[in-house]
Amino acid sequence: MNILVTGGAGFIGSNFIKYMLSKYDYNIINLDLLTYAGNLNNLKDIKTDRYTFIKGDICDRSLLEKIFNSFDIDIVINFAAESHVDRSIEEPSVFLTTNIIGTQTLLEVAKKYWKISPNDKYCREYKPGVKFLQVSTDEVYGELGQTGKFVETMPLMPNSPYSASKASADLIVRSYHETYGMPVNITRCSNNYGPFQFPEKLIPLMIINCLKDKDLPVYGDGMQIRDWIHVSDHCSAIDTVLRKGINGEIYNIGGNNEIENINIVKLIIKALGKSENLIRFVKDRPGHDRRYAIDNSKITTQLGWVPKYTFEQGMNETIKWYLNNTDWIENIISGDYINYYENMYSNV
Ligand SMILES: NC(=O)c1ccc[n+]([C@@H]2O[C@H](COP(=O)([O-])OP(=O)(O)OC[C@H]3O[C@@H](n4cnc5c(N)ncnc54)[C@H](O)[C@@H]3O)[C@@H](O)[C@H]2O)c1
Repeated sequence: MNILVTGGAGFIGSNFIKYMLSKYDYNIINLDLLTYAGNLNNLKDIKTDRYTFIKGDICDRSLLEKIFNSFDIDIVINFAAESHVDRSIEEPSVFLTTNIIGTQTLLEVAKKYWKISPNDKYCREYKPGVKFLQVSTDEVYGELGQTGKFVETMPLMPNSPYSASKASADLIVRSYHETYGMPVNITRCSNNYGPFQFPEKLIPLMIINCLKDKDLPVYGDGMQIRDWIHVSDHCSAIDTVLRKGINGEIYNIGGNNEIENINIVKLIIKALGKSENLIRFVKDRPGHDRRYAIDNSKITTQLGWVPKYTFEQGMNETIKWYLNNTDWIENIISGDYINYYENMYSNV
């Protein structure tokens, strides 16, 4: 089996590639543009010749055609995205290009390559075993009140340019299934944490700042609730959907760990033996969703997937990982990241 993983040099994609290479004998081709979020250091321990890295853009149709032809791709797992809400508020256009046009370009090339009769618009037959898996997010549903959880049938009500671009991509993926009969799945996962996460995201940002005794910037009152999942549970859920998912279906993925941002910050402070005086409340992000929570009963009951990590165990391991990988942190905290950080958290 030949799997094209896009965005595999990012946080979740790199964890997923290592997970799959260790579990199966598949060939994995990683196509990644290496934006600020892509980091080949995440993959440097991979020694097998079943892994190939290609630097390139998912919007580049002729490159995608070459990849499909050269590697006879059976499966596409599309992680490639601009993924940070704050950046989408500053500069939305690249989110639309990568997340929407990039996804549609991938779908189009896969359709051409996989369809039994590519020139027959009524043909709905595909090569056996092919699948397009779109890695999406719970943010497409918008925000919840104090009760209830996201279920797959809810209307999409995205509130940020990031989540709107991901929702758009979901709808395009769905349309390729409905119109052309393409075998697709969409997974919508809650907030991930774990090793190799770029330090602009809440948990690595707080761990790294705490280690350096720097301020811990918390948006608004810090009472925003997210439903956290360890990245390796997300990887095993995607693997499950790949093997057992019914074509055309959407699966929510979540770890049943609803926690307020401020309590995550306090947990990290405690684990690292620092003072809560480091906390600095800053002006809230515009359109900041208050609460997300995933109902994962479809994937657990229909496909038999269950998350393995408790939040306590996952956070202990994650904090230890950052403590033991200070070289990785120092390499990533480049000049560009510092400029971005100062822009986001100064004057607020
Ligand atoms: N991080 C989360 O908590 C979370 C939760 C649910 C869903 N997701 C989704 O999972 C996917 C991966 O998220 P992540 O946190 O690993 O993101 P990330 O920002 O760490 O990684 C994204 C990767 O995509 C690459 N990329 C960006 N534009 C590209 C392009 N045009 N062509 C090829 N590669 C490109 C980047 O170089 C980077 O390696 C995203 O689609 C995101 O929407 C993330």
